[in-house]
Amino acid sequence: MSTIFKAVKGFSDSFYPESQFLTFLENEALNFFNLYGYKELRLPILEYTEVFSRGMGVETDVVQKEMYTFFDRKERSVTLRPEVTAGIVRAYIESKKYAQEAQSKLISIGPMFRYERPQKGRFRQFHQINCECLGAIEPFVDAEAIVMLMRFLERIKVTSYSLQINSLGCKNCRPQYIENLQGWLKKIERSALCKDCERRKETNPMRVLDCKVSSCKDILKNAPSILEHQCKECSDHFDTVKDVLRSEKIKYEINTRLVRGLDYYMRTTFEVVSNDIGSQSAIAGGGRYDGLVAQLGGPDIPGVGFACGLERLSLLAAKPKGSAPLFTVAALSSEAKRKGFSLAQQLRNIGLTGDILYSTGSIKSAMRSVDKLGSTFCFLLGSNELENNSVTVKDMKSGVQESIPFNDAVQYIERYLNSTRECSKGIK
Ligand code: HAM
Repeated sequence: MSTIFKAVKGFSDSFYPESQFLTFLENEALNFFNLYGYKELRLPILEYTEVFSRGMGVETDVVQKEMYTFFDRKERSVTLRPEVTAGIVRAYIESKKYAQEAQSKLISIGPMFRYERPQKGRFRQFHQINCECLGAIEPFVDAEAIVMLMRFLERIKVTSYSLQINSLGCKNCRPQYIENLQGWLKKIERSALCKDCERRKETNPMRVLDCKVSSCKDILKNAPSILEHQCKECSDHFDTVKDVLRSEKIKYEINTRLVRGLDYYMRTTFEVVSNDIGSQSAIAGGGRYDGLVAQLGGPDIPGVGFACGLERLSLLAAKPKGSAPLFTVAALSSEAKRKGFSLAQQLRNIGLTGDILYSTGSIKSAMRSVDKLGSTFCFLLGSNELENNSVTVKDMKSGVQESIPFNDAVQYIERYLNSTRECSKGIK
């Protein structure tokens, strides 16, 4: 026997109806975020590695441990994107979008790749819906991104979650905070923190705050709060964000350790978490990243955005009712195949959904297969029907069937559609 190949660990296939649900969520996002001015941007999934290491920060977990990085045939280091913000900024700078419009609102949907330990809600290939607004410094834009995300979650009927927010200060006030934090970290016994934290204490102390190791988390509960070290501009900015959220009746919690795993954030950060999807609780996260465009070689342009994990959303959102096909044509003999094909085609040509089943076995087994397709009608074509130039129409719900002239089949189904339309008008 030849080998049966399996998908690579952490990479999964998605058949109907799951695939249909994911597409539904993507379309909902595109349409909904479009109301706020977001336009779609399609990007490559491969970037030069430096886009991510420089964008997200070399000390982050994603860059240190999780990237799919390899050399192409010309020995250039490339990486399958672990996130898309850095790629969006790269494209924004490369296309000089900043010279064409004061503000760019971009939505990008697609697969991301991170070498993490797979578990419920965590994959090595997963999908994000990502929104970025480049060019706006106003705190109202941070608030708009959060409000928009919350309204989107309501729209797709995600109900149980909480919103956490924080502010990480700016290049003026953060150095003083880092100094205080470093001083505090130095007082902790050497073996108490994990190896990564011990290193990051020196290289990038704020990264220590989002360590996932539970013993570190316990110790870090008492770390100095960044909110107590902010300059006036940063606290005014954060106050406005909170004011707008309150006026839009959006509940939030302040989490002073929400530094969000990536180095590019400054000022507002936020995360939406749910207890209903196991330990991988973050459904979405984002924040402001005013230094990133300059960091990647562009002008000094601010940005704010977020990403939702599509698979995690699909665990929580309400599934829409699937629509059943209207018809199935069952061609029950070799001779009936051509006529059946032609009937199915005539129905599809007028925009009706359905399929054709070629069966030369027993009627019983053909009808079992038709049942599984879940259509409203079945058109049966066997040798009797061929002889009489007729077709048998079966209403699959009531089981009632009748023989009609073959040439009346399209009209028959059109009459049915008109009558159901009239009926639903009457109900309104
Ligand atoms: P992130 O928090 O790393 O942020 O990822 C955003 C979301 O992607 C998470 O909240 C989660 O729902 C989903 N996600 C992350 N990793 C996995 C995984 N292994 N399996 C399944 N879902 C996952 C970012 O990526 C930032 N670029 C967001 C952003 C945009 N910030 C500003 N703009």
